Amino acid sequence: MSAEHIHIFDTTLRDGEQVPGCKLATPQKIEIALQLEELGVDIIEAGFPISSPGDFNSVVEIAKIIKKARVCALSRAVEADIKRAAEALVYAKHPRIHTGIGTSESHIKYKLKSTQDEILERAVKAVRYAKTFVEDVEFYAEDAGRTENEYLARVCEAAIQAGATVLNIPDTTGYCLPEEYGAKIRFLKENVKGIDNVVLSTHCHNDLGLATANSIAGIQNGARQIECTINGIGERAGNTSLEEVVMIMRQHPYLNLDSHINSRLLNETSHLVSDRMGMIVQPNKAIVGANAFAHSSGIHQDGVIKRRDTYEIIDPQEVGVDTSKIVLTARSGRAALAYRFKNIGHNLSKIELDSAYAKFLQVADRKKEVNDADLEEILKVENILA
Ligand code: KIV
Ligand code: ZN
Repeated sequence: MSAEHIHIFDTTLRDGEQVPGCKLATPQKIEIALQLEELGVDIIEAGFPISSPGDFNSVVEIAKIIKKARVCALSRAVEADIKRAAEALVYAKHPRIHTGIGTSESHIKYKLKSTQDEILERAVKAVRYAKTFVEDVEFYAEDAGRTENEYLARVCEAAIQAGATVLNIPDTTGYCLPEEYGAKIRFLKENVKGIDNVVLSTHCHNDLGLATANSIAGIQNGARQIECTINGIGERAGNTSLEEVVMIMRQHPYLNLDSHINSRLLNETSHLVSDRMGMIVQPNKAIVGANAFAHSSGIHQDGVIKRRDTYEIIDPQEVGVDTSKIVLTARSGRAALAYRFKNIGHNLSKIELDSAYAKFLQVADRKKEVNDADLEEILKVENILA
């Protein structure tokens, strides 16, 4: 049975770009949008057009150039926002307006100073208005993660009746546990009339480091779209990482869920976004971090040299990384040292290796990492292969 398709909704250029210091000019946004289309994302959230003339212009230019992916523009449940989003999308081949409003008690009482009934009415009006411009309207219930399920279900049902095609259930504050978020999606699947005619979407923030786990719990319980960003960038602790959810689905085929992402482009896409936004990727970041396929302890290195999958669940080439790395540190063993010497053209005998290893440990205790030049120097100092 072929896997069910999970739509990948990339919001690197909207939620990701909200990160302080990550603001991009239109040409860089176009470059990233083209890369995202090449990568195979289904939807590109290109920006929040009412927020600034620059962002409006970026959405216009991206809408003109993108051919296959849907181009989406964000708005609040406010007529002026929705109209501006629609104007920015006029050239889009497949336009989507993303509109919504806060539904949690905290948002309704303190941010919007309103009531549940009024918010429901505003949600309906926003979706109906957006539908006058485009067919594809996604509704978001902001802070759905902290919204009580019965009220959330009422709002979702009203949004469907008003014409929403996609329902986004954001865990805006990254509060939920995976079980709780999964149960929320299941509750909506089981209690909202018309839910099977729309796509349910996850949109999880990473405040407790659970964004990826929550997104996966969402799709295991019926969501069919994941909103995510490259490198997991986004407000505060960030959004769900695109590369993580894509590779989780690939590594666990029994889930029977998959995306159309060309995973071999993940590494270069990560570098492009990191470079253009000036946002360093932490070395231990899953899938795309510099150390994601690096092995430095003797025990692990010995295993990987014998057979890669003893310590790696992903073939690095599958995500566009040439090869696993054997890093030489004071924790490395003889197998790793021999392997690295071989890589630079020196096949050492056992006696030569013993002598090189003793010297290597002295160097490694002084340095964080021993490189190829150090290895050549060790051979010279120890008079090996002279
Ligand atoms: O986190 C959030 O709730 C959002 C919405 C605007 C979709 O980004
Ligand atoms: Zn968000």
